[in-house]
Amino acid sequence: MPKTIIISNRLPIKVQRTEEGLAYESSEGGLATGLGSIYKQGDNVWIGWPGTYFEEDSEKKQVRQDLHQQSMHPVYLTEGEIRDFYEGFSNETLWPTFHYFSQYAVYEDTYWEAYQRVNQKFCEAVMELASAGDTIWVHDYQLLLLPAMLREQMPESTIGFFQHIPFPSFEVFRLLPWREQLLQGMLGADLIGFHTYDDARHFLSSVSRIVGLNTSQGLIDNGFRNIMVDAFPMGIDYDKYASLATSEETHAKIAEYREALQEQRIILSIDRLDYSKGIPQRLQAFELFLKENPDFHGKVTLSMLVVPSRDQVEMYKQLKETIDELVGRINSSYRTITWTPIQYFYRSFPIEELSALYSVADIALVTPMRDGMNLVCKEYIASKVDRKGVLILSEMAGASRELADALLINPNDLGQMVRTIREALLMPEEEQITRMEHMQEIVQRYNIHHWVSIFMNRLEYIKEKQKAMA
Ligand code: UDP
Ligand code: G6P
Repeated sequence: MPKTIIISNRLPIKVQRTEEGLAYESSEGGLATGLGSIYKQGDNVWIGWPGTYFEEDSEKKQVRQDLHQQSMHPVYLTEGEIRDFYEGFSNETLWPTFHYFSQYAVYEDTYWEAYQRVNQKFCEAVMELASAGDTIWVHDYQLLLLPAMLREQMPESTIGFFQHIPFPSFEVFRLLPWREQLLQGMLGADLIGFHTYDDARHFLSSVSRIVGLNTSQGLIDNGFRNIMVDAFPMGIDYDKYASLATSEETHAKIAEYREALQEQRIILSIDRLDYSKGIPQRLQAFELFLKENPDFHGKVTLSMLVVPSRDQVEMYKQLKETIDELVGRINSSYRTITWTPIQYFYRSFPIEELSALYSVADIALVTPMRDGMNLVCKEYIASKVDRKGVLILSEMAGASRELADALLINPNDLGQMVRTIREALLMPEEEQITRMEHMQEIVQRYNIHHWVSIFMNRLEYIKEKQKAMA
């Protein structure tokens, strides 16, 4: 039976060492949470890094066996690879560049060498498990070279690639010293997907200007094959979030929060700690909101969940300090004995607690400077079973293309954010419901199952087309 092999740097499960031994937890981040609910069908397998450095062979063997039970196959990274490939090239070179933070990008040959080596390592892991007829689906910016490496080993194979983060405009992408090799790596795929048409368009323009290939109507002719490029806005497991919101566990949590927060209106923000998410800007806007709207003092709380991420990378360490300082300053200026304006959490939460927070939040404040898609805002919408609540969403998130009924903001415009927070707090219930219903229709229809099936159908289609043209 042909199977689908999913490959991403991070597995949907991360392994941690505890005093009681190895512990397995869900990974954070849209790629893992989104695909996590659908990959376990038939003989499908997911290849990736389990998130921890292992030295002992016995531990590696144990993890391999445990993950095998759950259709996963680990690729182990050495400490040097974690530093140079993961923290280095992936998160200090590609991540900032692709999110339009080129000023943060580090161009380091040792990082690039590690990136090539680790992509090769993943290629070997795939070759161990792949059989003729399998479909190979590579995910995200950590593995841009992998499609071409696989193509060289298996020229006839079916390879899809999906990038979960933005693809920047040519003028930004061209700044990378290894721009051509990166594009050539991606062009090993038969189908290349992005969240938005803008990302796809930017990629096509880089391919034509840097590699010099002809691109027309989303097809690239490389002289051997036609490669298809298209937009596939990723969805979520809608039913899971909708039913979780009515579960007993979530209800118990909601009651607990309500008891603690009484009549407070709640503004919710949830992100990994990342400079692409616009967290300081959001805090500044909230501070300005408090300054300009004394009538809301004591009546509104910003519940801010920040999930630790990439904490060995310098820019992330600095950002953590900035956020700590801002929260401290705002709380100490405005708090009273009975009211804390910002409830700040720096840790990850189990899904039932996330569901309860989504349910009780009057407003979700999602303000990235740049985001491939942003699944948090879709999870908020799916969790709103009573249809009341307002989504404030940055125009710079891929999700804003689909969610026209959100209150859209530019995260650089603090004044607009402040006015929009007030507008959201004062929005009549009927308007909240009308907007939420529209958004729920969209998020429900274009769910994760739809996303996978559209991508797979397109991949099959382009393979047929290639055969017809051969
Ligand atoms: N998330 C999580 N644990 C938490 C907070 C968030 O698993 O404590 C999940 C959240 O539910 C969402 C994902 O992390 O599915 C974040 O995805 P998003 O696309 O919004 O951003 P990314 O982190 O991928 O940039
Ligand atoms: C984003 C990226 C993923 C990544 C996730 C978490 O969603 O698109 O590829 O896995 O962030 O980041 P991390 O560095 O912890 O894997």
